[in-house]
Amino acid sequence: MKFFLDTANLDELKKGASWGIVDGVTTNPTLIAKEGRPIEEHIRMICEIVDGDISAEVVSTEAGAMIAEGLELARIHKNVVVKCPLTREGIKATSALSKQGIRVNVTLCFSAGQALIAAKAGAYIISPFVGRLDDIGWNGMDLIRSITHIYKNFGFKTQVLAASLRSPTHVIDAASAGAHIGTMPFKVLDMLFNHPLTDKGLEQFLKDWNKAFAEAPVAV
Ligand code: G3P
Repeated sequence: MKFFLDTANLDELKKGASWGIVDGVTTNPTLIAKEGRPIEEHIRMICEIVDGDISAEVVSTEAGAMIAEGLELARIHKNVVVKCPLTREGIKATSALSKQGIRVNVTLCFSAGQALIAAKAGAYIISPFVGRLDDIGWNGMDLIRSITHIYKNFGFKTQVLAASLRSPTHVIDAASAGAHIGTMPFKVLDMLFNHPLTDKGLEQFLKDWNKAFAEAPVAV
C-alpha cells in the first residue's frame, strides 16, 4: 500500500520524506490555509520535498471554474493531482479534466454509489473518508471494503485512497481492506513505528554488545 502524508506542513513533510517511505501527499483547503502561503507557491515547495502524487484541491464549486482552476493547478508541476469534491459539478469537472489527461482525485466520498460515479467519470483516485464516517457511528472501513470489491468486479483503474485515517489501526485495516493508498497525518505515520518489544530488544542487544566489547581491556 502506498503511504501518503495528509499535511501541507513543510517540516512534517521533510521529516516524513527523510524516512524514505512516503509515496505522496494529500492536501485540502483547510491544510493549505493553515500554512498561510498562496497555494501555487506552497504546492511547488511540497513537490520539491516529496517525489510522488501531490493532491491540490480546487475551491470553486461550479464546473467551468473548477476546470480552469484544475488546469492552473496541474501546470504547477507534473506530479500535481487535481482534487475535486464529489458533487455534481465536481464530477462534471472530473470528466472534462480526465478527458484532457489531467489526473483527478475525487474527494469527500462517503458512499459506494458516489465511488462508482467517480470511477465512471474517469477519476485517477477516489478518497473515501474513513474517520469522518466513524465519527457519526458508521464503520468507515466497510466503505473501503465495498469500494475495492466493486472496483475489482468491473476492473476500474481508479485507485482507492483511504483518507481521514486517524490511527495505526486504521492504516493496517485499510491495507487489509485492499486500499491502494492510505493518507494519514504525520503523527499517525510516526506512531506506526512504535513497538515496545522493538525498543526493549534493541536495548538488550546493545547492552550485550557493549558488555562484551566495550568493557574488554584494550590490548596494547
Ligand atoms: O484530506 C482529507 C482529510 O484531511 C480529512 O481528515 O481527520 O479531518 O477527517 P480528517
